[in-house]
Amino acid sequence: MKVAPVFEQGSHRWWMIYDQDERRVIDSNVYIMESNGQAIILDPGGFEIFPYVFTAMVEVVPIAAVKAAFVSHQDPDIASSLPLWNACNDQIQWHVPSLWEGFIRHYGALEAVLCGIPDDGGELFIGDRKLEFIPAHYLHASANFHVYDAEAKVFFSGDVGAAILQPGHDAWVNRRMGGDEAKSFDDHIQKARYFHQRWMPSNEAKRDWINRVSKLDIQYLCPQHGAIYSGTNVQRFLDWFDGLNVGTAISR
Ligand SMILES: [Fe+2]
Ligand SMILES: [Fe+2]
Repeated sequence: MKVAPVFEQGSHRWWMIYDQDERRVIDSNVYIMESNGQAIILDPGGFEIFPYVFTAMVEVVPIAAVKAAFVSHQDPDIASSLPLWNACNDQIQWHVPSLWEGFIRHYGALEAVLCGIPDDGGELFIGDRKLEFIPAHYLHASANFHVYDAEAKVFFSGDVGAAILQPGHDAWVNRRMGGDEAKSFDDHIQKARYFHQRWMPSNEAKRDWINRVSKLDIQYLCPQHGAIYSGTNVQRFLDWFDGLNVGTAISR
């Protein structure tokens, strides 16, 4: 896997770890935020990809700097690596949806420190920066959160914005099609359509999320699969998602 810088301002930085070489499991992205020597890892990934994620991460942040981990929901591609991370650093505090805590324990490491996020969200300080846990329930899991960094204008959107891309893909949606942002989006979003129609269960939940997220100032919308939407393609994505009918397994 590769590591790409997303944002940097002094000691405040974001990276994405992406593009698995080994495609036996669904391709997924892992994010790291660092401030003043403290780091958080967001949706640290599955058991299968742990060695590749770890190798990429230590290129930019030492394991001892990781103070916290964020788990958007209970899926194995998000959190099944928990016992391996805990074995490397048992000081990591795991911020997980309260509703899923007992289920996430099934991945092991019963001694790991789990901090439940209540349904209405919360906040966390890493170094001297604040992260907000934004409710994204039913998108797609019944208890689900995203993360907003208002200073960096980074929004980690979990499975929302996900696309299934080919090996060797770019980290950024905008850099396809010769850098034409609108054309790049149109090309990219074809690889996101089915995922959203089938995995996202509720048009009502989708509208609630769009109302909440539209009020935020976002420069980088960072999904857990696929590539990062930036600049004008953030609003393009919100408009596209707003118009998409989801939950299609029953609504067809
Ligand atoms: Fe998921
Ligand atoms: Fe996922």
